[in-house]
Amino acid sequence: MLSKFLKLFRKATVVVPGADKLAKGEARTIQVGDGLAGGKQILLCRSPEGQVYALDTHCPHDEGGKLLAGPLFGGDKAVCPLHNFHFDVRTGKVDKGTCKSAITYNIKEKNGEFHITF
Ligand code: FES
Repeated sequence: MLSKFLKLFRKATVVVPGADKLAKGEARTIQVGDGLAGGKQILLCRSPEGQVYALDTHCPHDEGGKLLAGPLFGGDKAVCPLHNFHFDVRTGKVDKGTCKSAITYNIKEKNGEFHITF
């Protein structure tokens, strides 16, 4: 309980190189930390306007799917292939399907690197 409370005040920033290699309308997956020890898998997305966004790859439909890397549907929708739900990369809101929103993280692009805070 105390660790969950303290976690609210801790923020970690991860720096990922290669921001200039992520094209508009594309997504790429990174692993942060050990997946078995509370690590996260994050989908880095670039919208058609060139903005970057970060979503947790865990699909909020909660039936075991993950948001896919590769081309974004329509240039700005992350896709979970398990039931073909689509999520707006800007907000995480489900666009096609019925479930809660995908988890989003703060992301900035500086000097060719992604700076992701979670
Ligand atoms: S688990 Fe992702 S759409 Fe169903």
